[in-house]
Amino acid sequence: MKKILVVGASGQIGSELVPELRRVYGEDNVVAADLKEPSQLAPTLVNGIYEQADALDAPRLVEIIKKHNIDSVYNLVALLSSVGEQKPQLSWKINIGALVNLLEIARENHLALFTPSSIGAFGPTTPKDNTPQDTIQRPTSIYGVTKVTGELLCDYYFKKYGVDTRGVRFPGIISSVTLPGGGTTDYAVDIYYEAIKKGHYTCYIKPGTYMDMMYMPDCLKAAIDVMEADSSKFIHRNCFNVASMSFEPEQIAAAIKKVIPGFTMDYDIDPVRQGIAESWPNKMDDSCARAEWGWKPTYDLDSMTEDMIRILSARLKKA
Ligand code: SER
Repeated sequence: MKKILVVGASGQIGSELVPELRRVYGEDNVVAADLKEPSQLAPTLVNGIYEQADALDAPRLVEIIKKHNIDSVYNLVALLSSVGEQKPQLSWKINIGALVNLLEIARENHLALFTPSSIGAFGPTTPKDNTPQDTIQRPTSIYGVTKVTGELLCDYYFKKYGVDTRGVRFPGIISSVTLPGGGTTDYAVDIYYEAIKKGHYTCYIKPGTYMDMMYMPDCLKAAIDVMEADSSKFIHRNCFNVASMSFEPEQIAAAIKKVIPGFTMDYDIDPVRQGIAESWPNKMDDSCARAEWGWKPTYDLDSMTEDMIRILSARLKKA
């Protein structure tokens, strides 16, 4: 992998993946692209090569790819699960529109393409505990419908055309740089901000609701490692389950309490996000990713919590 394009670069994952890719592959080898104007973006994105582009505008994407001799693309364009339920048609248009454009461009220009899937690709009839790599996938959110469609399209483009598509099923991602926005798992990010600012959090997810979660450094590692992996060892190819921790709201609250002893939490349940959360796995089995390309996460709930509170406390105090 030499010349990389990240589409949807200003989102939660892109805003940290772009600097990490630049650190690994060199400033000149990573192009960030997003719908937003450069003036709306963090310096870490626009200090390197940046192209404003709509992922639904295929000719514009081709222009960027040719201009910069791109050979690998990270497709991070997506409306998340909760906002998707407010705008299902838009969710389909954006999530699938961007993917179909990039798959076709990858086919015509011989590019490698990373597209993340999600725990959202599972549904209420999926086995909840140790959710297998290959299992029932009947999601009930439009986000999940687009994710399953994406997994199948990526597999199809590999099988039919030999496009080097790769991907993982991400858990809820917890990070300190850019807020996720519009997801069901966002509570596990918001809770840290509120714990530091107010010492209290009102949680929209019920006690006892387990979901897979992952700290951003492990998310970045998964995205880079699967693209670097020797694909001759792949039995699967797209949508590898990757896991590192799974918890219910009380457990993240207890982990925060160890660092901020006065922290308290109460509940005000959002039925839409609760319904989505209950349809997702409690904990995925990621043994295929471990066996086929050596996936191994670094962070657990306590080490993530210490790191999040240290980073956010320093930042929020300055603000
Ligand atoms: N974090 C996403 C969401 O909650 C799941 O992939 O929508």
